[in-house]
Amino acid sequence: MSPIRVPTRPIPGMKPGTSGLRKRVQDFRAPHYLENFLQAVFDAVRPPEGFGAATLVIGGDGRYFNREAIQTALRMAAANGFARALVGRDGLLSTPAASAVIRAHGAFGGLILSASHNPGGPDGDFGIKFNGSNGGPAPEKVTDAIHAASLALDHYLTLDTPDVDLGRLGPFALGELQGEVIDPVADYLALMRRLFDFDALQRLFAGGFRLAFDAMHAVTGPYATAIFEQALGAPPGTVRNGRPLPDFGGHHPDPNLVHARALYDEMMGPDAPDLGAASDGDGDRNLIIGRGCFVSPSDSLAMLAANAHLAPAYARGLAGVARSMPTSGAVDRVAARLGIPCYETPTGWKFFGNLLDAGRITLCGEESAGTGSDHVREKDGVWAVLLWLSVLAARRCSVTEIARSHWAAYGRNHYTRHDHEDLDADVARALMRDLAARLATLAPGDRLGGRAVRLSDDFAYLDPVDGSRSTGQGLRLVFEDGARIVWRLSGTGTVGATLRVYLERYTADPADIAQDTQAALADLVALADELSGLAARTGRSEPSVIT
Ligand code: G6P
Ligand code: ZN
Repeated sequence: MSPIRVPTRPIPGMKPGTSGLRKRVQDFRAPHYLENFLQAVFDAVRPPEGFGAATLVIGGDGRYFNREAIQTALRMAAANGFARALVGRDGLLSTPAASAVIRAHGAFGGLILSASHNPGGPDGDFGIKFNGSNGGPAPEKVTDAIHAASLALDHYLTLDTPDVDLGRLGPFALGELQGEVIDPVADYLALMRRLFDFDALQRLFAGGFRLAFDAMHAVTGPYATAIFEQALGAPPGTVRNGRPLPDFGGHHPDPNLVHARALYDEMMGPDAPDLGAASDGDGDRNLIIGRGCFVSPSDSLAMLAANAHLAPAYARGLAGVARSMPTSGAVDRVAARLGIPCYETPTGWKFFGNLLDAGRITLCGEESAGTGSDHVREKDGVWAVLLWLSVLAARRCSVTEIARSHWAAYGRNHYTRHDHEDLDADVARALMRDLAARLATLAPGDRLGGRAVRLSDDFAYLDPVDGSRSTGQGLRLVFEDGARIVWRLSGTGTVGATLRVYLERYTADPADIAQDTQAALADLVALADELSGLAARTGRSEPSVIT
């Protein structure tokens, strides 16, 4: 069957952001939009010998438009000459599971269809991300090449074939392409069994341990049910909102204290389970809450780094750790004590890929509720819960006790992120530009709000593995006492601009450690507002979301 060559013209704006191309569903449904982007991906990543020996993995988070987009991607993969395709049943693959499948099957790469934690449905968001043969998101040089290819298109290739039945496991053919609909959970579950002691976790649940896992009607439902309830014997009902829905039940599938409010309230209530956890639309984020005790993602990374050796996969210790620049420095202190390197990367999981591939780090994480390890090349929500369960099973204590003993041993990095969503994009850009100019006038030793400035800059990263340099990764103001304010514009939104302000202060004083985080950071919040002129420029007095 010969490919159909459909003439097209470049569509501007196909520049992948922090994590792939994210747009409104309506944008993706515009004539040729999806096809143009897919063809740009194939053109950018096509090896000199073509795709004749290549396997492509395809799956998504089940959001609205997922199935149609997968049918288009399959036809175009076949028309572009891919030898094989593996697609998750019903079009589902969590992002970490897609990474695991790419690695387990030696695939050329994968297409992950997701807009992560953004809302779904016909008026919601959609997204596509290309991951390479290491299972990780394409690095900047590849996403730049995709953008360039999108501006050079004059046609795309497809086939005229009926839809593939995505509901039936097993092989299918599409032109010359040999496809297979696979169980989306199987490879991932096998990997988790190799990393963790499932017998020990079974005993934990048999002893009455209670977990509440909120899948937020997103992709982790089938994974969490198979792992926590079926394999580990947690009682039915442990997994809530476990059925993936195209509109996530009308909610934002973002596991934070705003969108996972019901879980948070339960965990703060009188009959709270031992561990509350949630994951996002595509299953790579995690929220961890103990009984009466929210664990910030930055702290979770530090606490897992300090305790990872309690799980079989990490029993021999960690090669190193990494965190994104805006993530708190709590993990740095653990690394220092363990005598291992700690890398500071820009926001975006793709920046961990080289460090993981080179064996320089074993564990990494971000303030944006992402934690992961070298088992895949994505952050991994269900994995993070399994690692927490492993630590709790080995230490036989509560989340609160782990947090308290951690802070007693290392001190505490009080940390919060204030998001100002849906700002006018021009206003936000002007704010950042003027703030950068203001910060550039500061010199080390200058005093601001009672603190001495150590440095202020626009964060740039030199990748120690491939020598690539990434600039413009966030404005930061760091004080001599370690306190920091960081300002960044989000790279994952689809409308307007979101300004993120990250605030942090370290303390080793027991009375200060016990303080409420927002109170502990109030002076820095006021200073951040004053420096950026946020209220005056935007008329906003309060952040839209505080995490
Ligand atoms: C996605 C990426 C993360 C990143 C997060 C926040 O989840 O995978 O690596 O930290 O987005 O990005 P943003 O640009 O919105 O702050
Ligand atoms: Zn996600």
